[in-house]
Amino acid sequence: MITDFPAAPLPLPSEAELDEELAALGGDALIPKALRRTLFPVITKEDVFNLMLAQRQDPQKVVSDFADAYRDYVGANHALPTASGTSSLHMALVGAGVQPGDEVIVPAFTFIATAQAVVAAHAVPVFVDIDPVTYCMDPEAAASAITERTRALMPVHVHGLPADVPALRALADRHGIALVEDASHAHSARIGDRVAGSLGDAAGQSLMADKNFPLGGEGGIAFFSTPEAHDRAVTYLERHGIDYGMSWIAAAFGASQLRRLPYYDRIRARNAALLGEALDGTGLFSPPHVPDGHVHAYNMYRITLRPEAAGLDDLPVHAVKEAVHELLVAEGVPAREWQNTPIPCHLPFRSRDGFGNGYPFSLNPGAVRDHRPEDFPVTLGMLDSTLVLCRELRSPVEYERALRYADAFRKVARRPDAIRKRVEAGDYRRPYEKAARLG
Ligand SMILES: Cc1ncc(COP(=O)(O)O)c(C=O)c1O
Repeated sequence: MITDFPAAPLPLPSEAELDEELAALGGDALIPKALRRTLFPVITKEDVFNLMLAQRQDPQKVVSDFADAYRDYVGANHALPTASGTSSLHMALVGAGVQPGDEVIVPAFTFIATAQAVVAAHAVPVFVDIDPVTYCMDPEAAASAITERTRALMPVHVHGLPADVPALRALADRHGIALVEDASHAHSARIGDRVAGSLGDAAGQSLMADKNFPLGGEGGIAFFSTPEAHDRAVTYLERHGIDYGMSWIAAAFGASQLRRLPYYDRIRARNAALLGEALDGTGLFSPPHVPDGHVHAYNMYRITLRPEAAGLDDLPVHAVKEAVHELLVAEGVPAREWQNTPIPCHLPFRSRDGFGNGYPFSLNPGAVRDHRPEDFPVTLGMLDSTLVLCRELRSPVEYERALRYADAFRKVARRPDAIRKRVEAGDYRRPYEKAARLG
């Protein structure tokens, strides 16, 4: 029998270990190889039992009951459960009234599906840079990209931090256009007491395996503020004979997992706070910035490097980041880049074949740009100087693991000499100079 149950708990960290040699230089790793794996979601007897009960019900009712329960949790008015996040975003755009050839403003830093959903809606994505502090869509950049053919703003709550919705809402209202959220990283994220997914005219959200609320593989949900928007999306599917439906197995699994989501959210917030406190003390690393009144969902945890705090600012920041990345990975911290180039520089937006013969880009050639990475300097600066913990803080990450991650950052920050040596010996290219990666 194969068991994923850990063979032993992670030991509690001790201060003395921080002064030991770096793992990359021959010391012991803070997180031993055998104890690196984390498992999520947790599957309980309740989940299995719920699946068995659901098999006796009408599959459509299982799906609609789940959608109603999650819609109420989010506080949205109308919901359409879908097979994936990408299809939910497509439906959110259709519901918001986006028509073929319309322009939809999207951030240059996101997952490619945000922009591909615009193409799926036969519209043209117009890319803008991000805010240098939140890494979400910059409202001023969005304002300067608006034209007569703009139909919607589509901010992404990147990594789980809600974008600046008040500023974007005001901008959308000034121009009479829609606000469509990509809430795929932002389950339970909030501004004030309003949950991501209920902040715009429509929203799409992924419920796939990497997310904070995964339905056991693939899934998604679209939310709408008006019945008309919801009807537009439903009618579109019927008229075109498109099946984007959610599986009843995913829905039944989601129904029991939803009851535990608030618990998971709290554990994640606690781990993020604990890590943030440790990072603040290192000088070299800064935790994600969370504006007042915003609740971050921490689907990913992006850490910014401050080489100046460690006397390393004479070195290129991207090289410092790469060296630090290698040192952290050797300690057993699953740090990553997550995206290495602005989305408009990925092949589908350079070739713009679309569905063939350049459609839908051919509908609105005036909106199309041949982008170079340098067109998005804030995105490039962020990619140069940040690292991500992807998903490892998802519940139920043990307290000891969060402490050990924190200690690994502290251990590495104590060794600017080792970082410098690595940078001077290495040949590190800027992230966007490497082949574009999807994640
Ligand atoms: C920001 C963002 N939008 C959309 C998607 C697409 O979701 P899915 O993979 O469920 O289609 C993802 C998926 O990772 C994402 O990260």
